[in-house]
Formats: sequence, C-alpha cells, structure tokens
Amino acid sequence: MNDENFFKGVYVIDCFSSVIVSERYANIYRISKELIVKLPASIDAVKSERIEDHLKRLFNEALLQKQAYDLGVRVPRVEGIFRIDICNNCKLHKKISVPGLVMEYIPGRHPHNDRGNVLFEELLKVEMSKARNAGFVPGIDSLFNQNIIWDDLRELVHLIDLGCWSVLR
Ligand SMILES: Nc1ncnc2c1ncn2[C@@H]1O[C@H](COP(=O)(O)OP(=O)(O)OP(=O)(O)O)[C@@H](O)[C@H]1O
Ligand SMILES: [Mg+2]
Ligand SMILES: [Zn+2]
Repeated sequence: MNDENFFKGVYVIDCFSSVIVSERYANIYRISKELIVKLPASIDAVKSERIEDHLKRLFNEALLQKQAYDLGVRVPRVEGIFRIDICNNCKLHKKISVPGLVMEYIPGRHPHNDRGNVLFEELLKVEMSKARNAGFVPGIDSLFNQNIIWDDLRELVHLIDLGCWSVLR
C-alpha cells in the first residue's frame, strides 16, 4: 500500500487518547476539539490480509457520507481517510498503523429520552426525507438512538454512522 497517495495524511494517537466509545465495529477517538476518528474495532485483525476489507468498508462509508453531506443531509463533514499511528512511543503496546475515517465531531446527545419530543421527531423526519430524496437508503440501524445526535440548544438533528447506508442509482 502506497501511503503517500492513499491516505490524506497521518494522525497519531496512543492508548491514553480519549475514547468516545468502543463498540462492536468501531472505536471512536476524539482527536481534536473539532474532529473524531472512526477506527475498526478489532485493530489486531487489521493485519495484512484483512486490511483490504476494512479499507473498502471505510472508503464506502466515507464516500457515501461525503455525498450525503454535499447534498445537504445533516451528517458529520468528512475530513478523509487518514493513516492513524497508534502507540508510537508506548512501553505497553507495539506500534501499529490502521486506516481511520476522520470526520467532524458532532456535539449533542443521543435522543434516548427525547423520543416523542415534537421538535426532535419533526427534525428527524426532515433529515430522513432529505436522505431518501437525495437517493440514499438509510441503514436499518439509522433510527437507533446511538446513530442519531440531538443538539437541543442549536435545535439540530444529525444522522451519524452511515456504515449500513446504500445509494440508489
Ligand atoms: N461524528 C461524531 N461526533 C460525535 N460522536 C460520534 C461521531 N461519530 C460517532 N460518534 C459516537 O461514537 C458512537 C459509535 O460510532 P458509530 O455509530 O459510527 O460506530 P458503530 O456503531 O460502532 O459502527 P458501525 O455501525 O459502522 O459498525 C456513536 O454512537 C456516537 O456516540
Ligand atoms: Mg452506530
Ligand atoms: Zn499503548
């Protein structure tokens, strides 16, 4: 893999970097005030033979998310696929590099306790219709609380995690 051409750049994190969440598929790290990076969960599995699968998956997600953003659907702005160097100078772990999807950090909360709130539900509907009208098929998990971020101060609904979305066309 030719790093220079392939990755948009490099970010360095270590095992003390701030983890937002560690889930079935992804590990999310806050890499700056404005940005997060989505890494494959099983970093150990991201070794030679499976790296192509992870890359394909990340690339699809990045492309789709960029298209959705450009078409006005409220999703995190995509910064790109970066090489993420982990534990470069760590005494506990071996240094490893994995591909990561870097995107805008979206402030707010998951709407666990906001279901039924008229404004929230209305704005969620608007985003879902925008997505469908733009030719996307939102993932089966797109309405799960953990894939939605609600900012009640700014009155914004963001759809996140486009890993299961597809495009009509
Ligand atoms: N851009 C973002 N801004 C703020 N928080 C985020 C962002 N992206 C993800 N998160 C947080 O990280 C969690 C997991 O992210 P995401 O839903 O993308 O991964 P996942 O569900 O593990 O992956 P996938 O469904 O693609 O297998 C989200 O529920 C959310 O809490
Ligand atoms: Mg998710
Ligand atoms: Zn480490």
